[in-house]
Amino acid sequence: MDNKDKGSETQQKMWGGRFEALPSEALQAINASISVDQKMWREDIDCSVAHANMLAAQGIISETDKVAIIGGLEKITSQIENGEFEFSIELEDIHLNIEARLTEMIGEAGKRLHTGRSRNDQVANDFKLWTRRALQSTITQIESLQNILVNRSEQHFDWIMPGFTHLQTAQPVTLGHHLLAYVEMLERDNFRLNNAFHNAGECVLGSAALAGTPFPIDRETVAQELGFDCPNANSMDGVASRDFALEALGALSIAIVNLSRLADEIVLWSSPQFGFARLSDDWSTGSSIMPQKRNPDAAELIRAKAAKICANSNALLMILKGLPLTYSKDLQEDKVLVFGAFEDFWLSITAMRGMMETITFNRENMLKAAKLGYSTATDLADWLVRELGLPFREAHHIVGAVVKHAEQNNYPELALMPLSEFQKIDARISEAALSLLNVEASVSSRTSLGGTAPNNVKMQIEKWKDEHE
Ligand code: ARG
Repeated sequence: MDNKDKGSETQQKMWGGRFEALPSEALQAINASISVDQKMWREDIDCSVAHANMLAAQGIISETDKVAIIGGLEKITSQIENGEFEFSIELEDIHLNIEARLTEMIGEAGKRLHTGRSRNDQVANDFKLWTRRALQSTITQIESLQNILVNRSEQHFDWIMPGFTHLQTAQPVTLGHHLLAYVEMLERDNFRLNNAFHNAGECVLGSAALAGTPFPIDRETVAQELGFDCPNANSMDGVASRDFALEALGALSIAIVNLSRLADEIVLWSSPQFGFARLSDDWSTGSSIMPQKRNPDAAELIRAKAAKICANSNALLMILKGLPLTYSKDLQEDKVLVFGAFEDFWLSITAMRGMMETITFNRENMLKAAKLGYSTATDLADWLVRELGLPFREAHHIVGAVVKHAEQNNYPELALMPLSEFQKIDARISEAALSLLNVEASVSSRTSLGGTAPNNVKMQIEKWKDEHE
C-alpha cells in the first residue's frame, strides 16, 4: 500500500462514511489547508486539551479516556516540536491531522475527542487563539521599537534638522522631536492592537457545527482555561464570524503603514542628496555593479510589505462580503492572509529595530539643510505680530517680500542678511528681530505643548519613560 492510498483510507475514516469514491486529486489540492494551518498546531492542541478536560469533568467521556487523550496530545506536541510529525495533505487540515494521529496512537479514546464540537467551532477558536497570541507578541515588539526610538531621541534631543511639509523645508525642528512623533504613532498602534485583542475575548468552542450541542458542556470553564474572557453568546455567530481577524488586520495595516513612513524617511535620509543619516554596514546592501552604493533594502522592503499587509486585510474583507451565515469553506482562506500579514509585520519590525538601533545621524548636514529654504521666515512673521502688533496676514505678506529680496540678492539664509537689507522692505524691522532668525533660536522658541524646543523634547522623553516603566 503506498502512502497516497493509506492517506485516502484515513480520510475515508474521518468523514467519508457516505462516499463511494475518493476525492479527485484537484479537489484534494484546492481543499487542503494543512500547508497553511499547521502553523496553529499548538492552538489546536491547547483547545483539544481544554475540551477533553471539560468533557471528562462533565462526565461526557471517562476519566481514563481523558488521560489517554491528553497523554496522546502531549506526545504529538513533542513530535511536532521535534519535526517528527508527518503532516499529510490527504488529511486536509491541522484538525484532522492531529485527530487522526491521536486515534492511531490511542485507539478508541481518540475518536471520542470530537464529541460536542465540530471543525467549525474548532477552527474558529484555534484561529482566534492564534490571533490573540500574535497580537500580544506584536504589542511587545512595538514597545521594544518605541524604547529604541526614545533612546535615539534622547541622544539627539537638540540636534537641529529641517522639518518638512510637502517635502519642502518648512521650519527647523529637532531630530529628537521627529523621532518622538513615531513613538506617539506606535503608541496608538498598540492601543488599536490591544483593542483587537480584547474584542477577540469570546471563546467560540462549544458553538459546535452551528447550532450548539445537546451534550451538557461547560463553556465557561473552557473559555477560562484558554485565557478568553467568556464564551460567545450565539453559536451561529461563533462559527461564522471572522471580524476578530479583520480587526487584527486593520490594526496591523495601520501599524505597518506607520512603519512604512519611517522606512521611507530612512530611504530619503540615507541618500547622498540628503546625507542626514547612514545605515550601519549590517543594515546596508551593496550593488553588484556600482561599488559605491549603500542601499537601504530593508527599509524599501518594509514599504512593500505594507502594501501586502493592507492587501491581505482587503482580501479578507472581500471574502466575508456576501457570505451568508454560517460557516462556508471560503473562510478557510482567512488564515493564509492573517498568518502572512503577521509574519511580514514581525520581519519588518525586526528590521526596523535593527536599523533604528544602529543608524547614525550627520549633525552637520542636518544643520546645514535646516538653515536653507528660509526656514525661519515664520519666526520673522511671528516677531512682527508680537512686537509690532501687526495682523498675522500682513506680517506674512511683509516676510514674503523679505524672502524674495533675500533670494534675489543671493542671501541663502535670512540670518545672513544685514539689517539694512531687511529695512529696505520694512523699516520697522530691528536688530532684535534678526537675533531670532537663526535656527537655534527658532527651535528653542517653540515651547508650546507638543512643540519642538529641546527642553520640550527632554520633558516628553521623561514623561514617556515615567509612564512606561
Ligand atoms: N480547514 C477548515 C478551515 O480552515 C476547517 C473547518 C472545516 N469545516 C468543515 N465543515 N469542512 O476552515
